[in-house]
Amino acid sequence: MTTGYRTAYCNDIRGGRIGEEVSVCGWVNTRRDHGGVIFVDLRDHTGLLQVVFKPEVDPTAHGAADALRNEYVIAVKGRVARREEGKVNPDLSTGEVEVLAGSLEILNTSLPPLYDWDDEVDERMRLKHRYFDLRRPVMQFNLRTRSAAAHIVREHMHARGFVEVETPVLTRSTPEGARDYLVPSRVSPGQFYALPQSPQLFKQLLMVGGLDRYYQIVKCFRDEDLRGNRQPEFTQVDIEMAFIGPEDVFELVDALFARLWKEVLEVEIALPIERMDYATAMEQYGSDAPDLRFGLKLVDLSEVVRDSEFQVFAQAIAGGGQVKAIRVPGGATLSRKELDALTEFIRIHGAKGMAWVKVQDDGWQSPIAKFFTEGQRTAMAGLLGLETGDLAVFCADSPRVVADALGNLRKEIARRTGLIDDSVHRFVWITDFPLLEQDAETGRNTSKHHPFTAPVPGDLEAHENGDPLNIRSLAYDIVLNGVELGGGSIRIHSTGVQQRIFRLLGLGEEEAREKFGFLLDALQYGAPPHGGIALGLDRMVMFLVGTTSIRDVIAFPKTQKAGDLMVNAPSAVEPEQLRELGIRLIRP
Ligand code: AMO
Ligand code: AMP
Repeated sequence: MTTGYRTAYCNDIRGGRIGEEVSVCGWVNTRRDHGGVIFVDLRDHTGLLQVVFKPEVDPTAHGAADALRNEYVIAVKGRVARREEGKVNPDLSTGEVEVLAGSLEILNTSLPPLYDWDDEVDERMRLKHRYFDLRRPVMQFNLRTRSAAAHIVREHMHARGFVEVETPVLTRSTPEGARDYLVPSRVSPGQFYALPQSPQLFKQLLMVGGLDRYYQIVKCFRDEDLRGNRQPEFTQVDIEMAFIGPEDVFELVDALFARLWKEVLEVEIALPIERMDYATAMEQYGSDAPDLRFGLKLVDLSEVVRDSEFQVFAQAIAGGGQVKAIRVPGGATLSRKELDALTEFIRIHGAKGMAWVKVQDDGWQSPIAKFFTEGQRTAMAGLLGLETGDLAVFCADSPRVVADALGNLRKEIARRTGLIDDSVHRFVWITDFPLLEQDAETGRNTSKHHPFTAPVPGDLEAHENGDPLNIRSLAYDIVLNGVELGGGSIRIHSTGVQQRIFRLLGLGEEEAREKFGFLLDALQYGAPPHGGIALGLDRMVMFLVGTTSIRDVIAFPKTQKAGDLMVNAPSAVEPEQLRELGIRLIRP
């Protein structure tokens, strides 16, 4: 406080300081003229403070206060006083007091505010004038919470012997599966850097380099479709450790989340965080990021309906598919219209239709009841645990479609019927992911996580010459309330295994060398066993502040079209810049 601008923040001025002379500064939140007495609500990042300008206290200050408008920047000196009887504002932490202004300095004026913070304004407006929007108390809270969370992360990591290392931003393509952002090289015309989708390879090389325990709070760049909680540049808490297995990662991250949730939200997380293998998650929830705050599990009825008269079901199974259903307790009250809406919803997620059954006092009410024998109905009711008043919804299709359709439908039903308790924080580790998955379009095997993920011991030998899709990996995700917060794996540290995996991926020796030669080389120079994880900091903070928009936790976020509306990026560049880079544009 050496400049003398202020001796206190607004929210520090309470009843205990009555009679004190203080200097405060900030923005004019509101100004009211009550017959000669001017009241200003002064705002800084800590809160609001009432400042009173009376002609008899200081005529100059009072005269100047007449010119004040909202968002003017001012410095006030004055004496703290108790508010008059009946003027106390119990909704304000400083509501008991006011500052009687003895002097006023207008440090800066402001154009009229662009919008009222309490109004619903177009987000584009907010993003275009982000500097103004950041003054909103909720944005202040979000960014300060983000900073507090990052600080806790750093403390946690340093206390456990982790070293923070910065990895390059100008690098080459990294294997996370999204599109790269490219940066042209001026010195080597026609050549490009890629911005890292993650520091994956560098952190592995740091382990080979003997750093032992690395972490970094790091920007990552992915040119991908920006749905919901994704941004083209986002922040990871990136972690790698040598001489460890999955348990070490779980223990580290469990303790980190417990600390964050306790220190920021005062929520106790029961440790250890529960675990579920991928197969179970897909089987019961149709998703590798299951929301466990509610039931509505998927139940496989294929065996029961395999030979039924209902052709939709029988044919789906005959074609290698399955029939699964969800029991909705008390769901028989859903109207026809509501069922139609659910059918519409499930179609959007790829299903061809949705069959349903309402269990009434006098039996099943359902368009498909007639196709099943008494025995089949009893068996289905038994597997589903159906009771009077329940609804069951069915989907028949390939396992992939059934999982996706019913996995999404269970969340939709939970939302619509109010089954989701927002105060619950249900974490779960998903483990034993498949090492490979088949690309739906090309039919080629690709890495489910990334090509450096180690297989579960024994699985590679057991399946590499049979069906490699059966190989499980030492990969894991941490999921909260149905949202993937982080993912990682134990890595391959043997050149031989790495080459076998490249072969399964259809990556020729030459191509592998060209792309990842430096890694293959490094593995041959004493690479220790190692593994790690990356946590999405933005997503974590979304939970810590309770928002559903990732843009609310980033100071200068980008739009769905990856644009920054404030600085107007991306933008065209001068022809001279392109010439220097040896680039000629093709007009679309
Ligand atoms: P992964 O690709 O799973 O793993 O990313 C880790 C976490 O980063 C967050 N995340 C994102 N957040 C916002 N916007 C995005 N576009 C975005 N993409 C990812 C998610 C995700 O769980 N190198 C591996 C980690 C490892 O193996 O150690 C990796 O990047 O919360
Ligand atoms: P249909 O014989 O096509 O008139 O279908 C009879 C009932 O089965 C309707 O309620 C459909 O919505 C439902 N249905 C159709 N296809 C499927 C499917 N693949 N899975 C589950 N139910 C379906």
